[in-house]
Amino acid sequence: MDELIPVFVKIGLSEQKAKETAKNKKLAPMLATVIDDAQVGDGCDKDIGILLYHLASTITKDAAPHRAYLVNKITNGDLKSNDQITAGIKFVDDLPSIDEKAFDEATGVGVVVTAEQVKDLVTGFINDNKDNISANRYKTLGPNLAAVRKLEALRWADGGVIKKELDDQYLALLGPRDERDVPQKKKKEPKAAKKEAVQVEAARPVDPMRMFYEGELARLHKPGGNKQIKPELMDEHLKTTGGKVMTRFPPEPNGYLHIGHAKAINVNFGYAKAHNGVTYLRYDDTNPEAEEEKYFTSIIDTVRWLGFEPWKVTYSSDYFQQLYELALQLIRKGLAYTCQCTGEEIHAHRGGDDGGARTACVHRDRPVEETLDQFEKMKQGRYKEGEVTLRMKMDLENGNPQFWDLIAYRVLYTPHHRTGSDWCIYPTYDYTHCLVDSFENITHSLCTTEFIQSRESYYWLVDALEVYKPVQWEYGRLNVTGTIMSKRKILKMVTNKLVNDWDDPRLFTLVGIRRRGVPPEAINNFVLELGVTTNKTVINTTRFDAKVREHLDNTAPRLMTVLEPLKVVLKNLADDFVEDIVVPNKPRDAAMGEHTVPFTKVLYIDRADFREQDSKDYYRMAPGKSVGLLHVKHPVRCVDIEKDSQGNVVTVICEYENDVAFKKPKTYIHWIADCPARGSPVKLDEVRVYEPLFKHENPEKAEGGYLNDLNELSLSVVKGGLATVGIYDQVADWVNKTGGKDKESMRWQFVRTGYFCLDKDTDLDLDLVKKGNVKEALRHIVVNRTVTLKEDAGKSS
Ligand SMILES: *[C@@H]1O[C@H](CO)[C@@H](O)[C@H](O)[C@H]1NC(C)=O
Ligand SMILES: *[C@@H]1O[C@H](CO)[C@@H](O)[C@H](O)[C@H]1NC(C)=O
Ligand SMILES: *[C@@H]1O[C@H](CO)[C@@H](O)[C@H](O)[C@H]1NC(C)=O
Ligand SMILES: *[C@@H]1O[C@H](CO)[C@@H](O)[C@H](O)[C@H]1NC(C)=O
Ligand SMILES: *[C@@H]1O[C@H](CO)[C@@H](O)[C@H](O)[C@H]1NC(C)=O
Ligand SMILES: *[C@@H]1O[C@H](CO)[C@@H](O)[C@H](O)[C@H]1NC(C)=O
Ligand SMILES: *[C@@H]1O[C@H](CO)[C@@H](O)[C@H](O)[C@H]1NC(C)=O
Repeated sequence: MDELIPVFVKIGLSEQKAKETAKNKKLAPMLATVIDDAQVGDGCDKDIGILLYHLASTITKDAAPHRAYLVNKITNGDLKSNDQITAGIKFVDDLPSIDEKAFDEATGVGVVVTAEQVKDLVTGFINDNKDNISANRYKTLGPNLAAVRKLEALRWADGGVIKKELDDQYLALLGPRDERDVPQKKKKEPKAAKKEAVQVEAARPVDPMRMFYEGELARLHKPGGNKQIKPELMDEHLKTTGGKVMTRFPPEPNGYLHIGHAKAINVNFGYAKAHNGVTYLRYDDTNPEAEEEKYFTSIIDTVRWLGFEPWKVTYSSDYFQQLYELALQLIRKGLAYTCQCTGEEIHAHRGGDDGGARTACVHRDRPVEETLDQFEKMKQGRYKEGEVTLRMKMDLENGNPQFWDLIAYRVLYTPHHRTGSDWCIYPTYDYTHCLVDSFENITHSLCTTEFIQSRESYYWLVDALEVYKPVQWEYGRLNVTGTIMSKRKILKMVTNKLVNDWDDPRLFTLVGIRRRGVPPEAINNFVLELGVTTNKTVINTTRFDAKVREHLDNTAPRLMTVLEPLKVVLKNLADDFVEDIVVPNKPRDAAMGEHTVPFTKVLYIDRADFREQDSKDYYRMAPGKSVGLLHVKHPVRCVDIEKDSQGNVVTVICEYENDVAFKKPKTYIHWIADCPARGSPVKLDEVRVYEPLFKHENPEKAEGGYLNDLNELSLSVVKGGLATVGIYDQVADWVNKTGGKDKESMRWQFVRTGYFCLDKDTDLDLDLVKKGNVKEALRHIVVNRTVTLKEDAGKSS
């Protein structure tokens, strides 16, 4: 068989492989026959050779009669991959004759899957499985590669391209492999010292804007790409907009924004930004009864705080006249009628509670003139509220309730905050929203999936009036566990003083989250990394907290504080001993700067860091034991304790182990020097610690309703906490950088305790700070906890 070796080499096998193959008594003659069939005894392209080899090595006995057919399919370029050959062998197996069309179909001949398609499908797959992938990381890569390759649309795609795409997207989502991805051997009980170490979620380098270029958002049309009822509408539109992407964020000014809106803001502003477009902030102010000035102000403040600047701020009420004129047109076209039905009658005509037959009301076919006349009287204020409405004449036969003659106008006598008493007829959301989108030349009207059914009626109305038609696209709204988003319900908690106000830090209103100290960047990253799909998402608040921690870990200076001080005396130091200790604002990050604190004979540590009863798994301070003090050179050893008459430990006597041979301590605790000459310690007048407002993840489903689910311990106030003098440098630095107006933007990591921010109740004299006298300026310090240091630290601080 040795003479076959050079033949095998000619078709592309390696020397080694050729030798092995030649020795194989079954494979060698088969491969030689296949080479004969293919007439490539003098050599061929290596790609073809590999395919021939695959055929020879896998062909079955029952398929053998069709060997020449398969060889031909390889040499003519129809079969390009091993996968196709395998399918081909399976197909011809046992067949007396072959129908070429059926063969081609079964083996994917001519099917081209572009890298772009692979990318889209992989993106979709990853989005659908994001929670699992984020949680289980690279462990899911293997199974998911198999799953993706099984996708129908990728049946004939190049496996290598799929793998590379999946690898790339995993990398973008999770960052490089790290210790979490090392296969775990069964570990022994983790050491206590490990448990105490600050746990920090690894920062993941993800381009937060990627959601706008990938996945479902990437498939949206380009401006100009959506068909109009009359083509000239698009020509005019493009002439005006120059083909720019235009989006809008259209809140109703009847409440404060919540975390769900952070998604709407990011999607609308972000999509436009990603495509060099612009975004309107449009107050949808068509219901004068619910609107209040404070909501208008808060909404724009919040949008700006999140880092977005509207291209224009508009109001639906800007268009009342235009909307009215179009209503007249709609009536003249016979597509609207005034209707005297009551709400109950309308409900009954729409099939009632049990979805019965729908019937037209007697007003539906009244003459156009009569409707025009009554609509005019509506406008003149000659009807009472609720006596008559203008309804659109849509399609009662349509299965979509949004076609059942929606109300376009109603009579309301409440003065409007902008138009006063100019109008007593107000257009409804259903009538207004699409038309104002059209007036403003919105290209992509991005909204949540609750509006899916409204999409058709949206298009119906703009087409009926022959005005420019935007495209509506819906995404799943964002919701988090353990909270309430409903405006009505929050209002109820506010009026019943169950929370302090709309900006109570325990709420998930954006003003509340802001006052809790959460940085806007953390919110945006949270939203962006969740991505945009059409699925409704209820996200575990723990994921939100993790995002906040990640951001604060990178940005917040560290400060040693003790919330429950315990006095420690280092008996071998002189009464007037003072050593300056330099403390980095963030370990291993020189750019964050440093501050200096005194180290003296008398210190305070956190009571939680001392135990009278020592145990083997306890590494902090206990009688007879050495423990490290953060940033201090030598450890201290507890040699004695002093108690008060009730038996409480009031002082711990220690030895500073500066001249004995000491062992490197197992753990380090934080501390604050008692050094009045240097202003140390600094008193923290109030430390406010939040726990979740509700006891359950779904308060609405709790027994007795959400009001019955309130966690009485959700706010606790700690008085008597202490901080090092580092707080002065950090506050001065923050005032220098930000002006110091938004107190909540002074954020810290209190070492080993949690993330905190300065409360607005803090008494801080900014002028004095600017004059360099921060000690005098900072008079009454109140801090709020933003988030715990790690997920399970719930009750411990
Ligand atoms: C989205 O919804 C579809 C169908 O409702 C479901 O099959 C899919 O798993 C969902 N994806 C996610 C990420 O929840
Ligand atoms: C997570 O993904 C892995 C790998 O694809 C799969 O085996 C597992 O069932 C998934 N778990 C969940 C909860 O979907
Ligand atoms: C929208 O485009 C039309 C032309 O299609 C133009 O007349 C109109 O002024 C534009 N609207 C706004 C608010 O810019
Ligand atoms: C801190 O908590 C108090 C009490 O709930 C609240 O009134 C205040 O607004 C909070 N401040 C910040 C900045 O979150
Ligand atoms: C949310 O996360 C917490 C902590 O990881 C977990 O106990 C809880 O079951 C999660 N809830 C849901 C709905 O996934
Ligand atoms: C948010 O999710 C909860 C379930 O966790 C649900 O009861 C509530 O209605 C949702 N809220 C919104 C506004 O979708
Ligand atoms: C703040 O700015 C002032 C004047 O610009 C400067 O003198 C001072 O050192 C700065 N303080 C800090 C902490 O950076």
